[in-house]
Amino acid sequence: MRLFVTGASGWIGSAVVADLLGARHEVVGLARSDASARRLEVAGAVVARGDIDDPDGLAKAAADSDGVIHLAFQHEVAFGGNFAAAAAADRRAVEAMGAALAGSDRPFVLASGMLGVQSGQVATERDGLVPSDEARAIPASLRAATALLTLSLRGIGVRSSVVRFPPTVHGDGDNGFIATFVAIARQRGVSGYVGEGANRWPAVHRSDAARLARLAVESAPAGSVLHAIADEGVAFREIAETIGRHLDVPAVSVSPADAVDHFAHLGHFASIDTPASATITREMLGWEPTGPSLLDDLDQDHYYRRP
Ligand SMILES: NC(=O)c1ccc[n+]([C@@H]2O[C@H](COP(=O)([O-])OP(=O)(O)OC[C@H]3O[C@@H](n4cnc5c(N)ncnc54)[C@H](OP(=O)(O)O)[C@@H]3O)[C@@H](O)[C@H]2O)c1
Repeated sequence: MRLFVTGASGWIGSAVVADLLGARHEVVGLARSDASARRLEVAGAVVARGDIDDPDGLAKAAADSDGVIHLAFQHEVAFGGNFAAAAAADRRAVEAMGAALAGSDRPFVLASGMLGVQSGQVATERDGLVPSDEARAIPASLRAATALLTLSLRGIGVRSSVVRFPPTVHGDGDNGFIATFVAIARQRGVSGYVGEGANRWPAVHRSDAARLARLAVESAPAGSVLHAIADEGVAFREIAETIGRHLDVPAVSVSPADAVDHFAHLGHFASIDTPASATITREMLGWEPTGPSLLDDLDQDHYYRRP
């Protein structure tokens, strides 16, 4: 298939590109800069210059493809304090690419997250399809709304699916949540967890996340929700203790009231309890994670190299 991939130059996207090319697909990757374009060329992808803020360009690239994997997200805008603007741009991008694929039965795969999907138990692929009042109250639910929009594209003849990534897609080169917690622990001289640290984080290795994105674009039925979950829920205290052991700093409890002070913009994330399963995904697509678990990966050197 000739697949248009947004976010192809990113952390997960570069693994998705490698996996797609390895499976003999042709990849057209979105690049917004010369540096990203060069990365894609070196990887073996065709470059489509453009930007998430240019829905017409995205629509054209989608129309010229056999299917789309949409991974790009304006993280720097979101973490710069304007999550709503990043989520709105994402929604416009999905609307434009969805309209371009209407009536074609071609696949559109959206990368989404678990935040806003909390079920109070181990979340399955069937949870989070109706935003709860609690989910509506947090900014991340704007992305959950875009996921619902994506699923609704099935109604206009698009084989749409949503792949929910856990908060930590881990591996060598990770610069997301876990790498930031390592940096905070190093800077503070203690590796913190909130309260008892019993809150659980699901996780997946980057290689497994990438393979699931490929399986989704190849064969997920229209309207599927898929979970890229290998570890169903790792207690945050175990994550903090493993980081502490490697940095040779103590793992300490941080009171919920001090979480924002300690973890800065990750204060809310450090205490979320969002265990999730992937049973439906495994049965539907035969996906089996083969990469290391989060704790095994945290035992590797790559998380502790100084930037
Ligand atoms: N990593 C995780 O643990 C995790 C967890 C849950 C969900 N997710 C979601 O999975 C997706 C991929 O995440 P990631 O970790 O690979 O993110 P990433 O490394 O930050 O990559 C983001 C990608 O989006 C592109 N991008 C950003 N703004 C753009 C714009 N205005 N126009 C065009 N492209 C733009 C970036 O291009 P440049 O290369 O030019 O910067 C990059 O290719 C995202 O939707 C993310 O929110 C990730």
